[in-house]
Amino acid sequence: MKKILVTGGLGFIGSHTVVELQNEGFDVVIIDNLSNSKIEVLDNIKEITGTKPDLFQIDLRVKKDVVDFFSNNTIDGIIHFAAFKAVGESVQNPLDYYENNIGSLVHILQEMRDRNIDNFIFSSSCTVYGQADELPITENAPIKHALSPYGNTKQIGEEVIIDTCKANNLNAISLRYFNPIGAHDTTKIGELPIGIPQNLIPYITQTAAGIREQLSIFGNDYNTPDGTAIRDYIHVVDLAKAHIAALKRLIQKENKTNFEFFNVGTGKGSSVLEIVKAFEVATNQKLNYKIADRREGDIAAAYADTTLANSELKWKTEKTIEQALQSAWKWQKKQKS
Ligand code: NAD
Ligand code: UD1
Repeated sequence: MKKILVTGGLGFIGSHTVVELQNEGFDVVIIDNLSNSKIEVLDNIKEITGTKPDLFQIDLRVKKDVVDFFSNNTIDGIIHFAAFKAVGESVQNPLDYYENNIGSLVHILQEMRDRNIDNFIFSSSCTVYGQADELPITENAPIKHALSPYGNTKQIGEEVIIDTCKANNLNAISLRYFNPIGAHDTTKIGELPIGIPQNLIPYITQTAAGIREQLSIFGNDYNTPDGTAIRDYIHVVDLAKAHIAALKRLIQKENKTNFEFFNVGTGKGSSVLEIVKAFEVATNQKLNYKIADRREGDIAAAYADTTLANSELKWKTEKTIEQALQSAWKWQKKQKS
């Protein structure tokens, strides 16, 4: 049985990926320092899969702890989620972001190099494309100047991996996520935004739950059909499954070059207003919202061309936006009770 290290495995996307890995028969070990997650997630994973993954409560910024971990564990592949991800916070504290998102990555790659561990999956983001000139966005779209230190850590992270792959014969796949949303069907794991949500879906569900008074739609004067901004919202379980497909591709040595990157989205763009309407239909209730000014740093539209991921990873999304919104709402209601 292949043993896979999942860093950040108690987080939003990591926990869903751990479940899918276990469902596929992988042996999973998690490193997480609980900086943005809760220890209960471990038991919740066990409730879904029947198996509690091993957890090492280690901070990846502490090199000695990372070295000790690899000295004591034989690993066949790594999915690296652990990072800070709040765009606004990264503008306030850029060095924290570079230290964690780049420093931790370097520590892991050094151990992979020194111990000849292969098969590395990296959490990247569609943010690397900025406002792309053409839609849908293919992998050939140029990387644009990053609008935030967070976005920059994803660009630099990919470059660090490319250089390492070249020099050290490592095989890696970078997955560029579009907008992950939703929760597991069991409602046992989901997203736990801390404080006031910055992202659209948790803001909507908290408004519907009465925690926030009103959703502000940031701008209705974009050059889009209804004037509100367009994104590609992907169910987190579909996203998790893309990791399994990418990992298998590496393990089975089906990759064409030793660094590959894929867009992971649905291929369909939805405007903010469409999401609000879809949420109202999916959950059978009215949402209190208003139109507000544009949010600084936002782009008008981004959605993926998923042709490459569909053909090369033999993966495609299975869930609808309605299912994703319903699962997010079910998860929200559970948080309240
Ligand atoms: P998350 O915050 O829910 O999960 C990250 C996990 O990593 C948390 O459990 C946190 O405690 C852990 N962690 C952070 N720093 C650590 C460290 N130094 N040592 C050990 N553990 C550490 O985030 P997520 O939404 O699951 O995102 C996972 C990855 O995907 C991140 O790299 C993020 O940048 C990337 N990504 C996320 C989105 C999104 O919308 N959620 C979009 C694009 C890319
Ligand atoms: C944000 C991050 C991006 C990250 C992505 C992943 C920013 C600037 N970018 O992207 O780096 O990769 O999440 O999920 O934060 N909206 C509202 N009202 C709200 C919240 C959002 O109208 O209260 C709108 C936004 O203007 C945007 C859309 O909803 O048009 C989606 O917003 P959000 O969920 O924050 O995601 P992104 O901005 O795409």
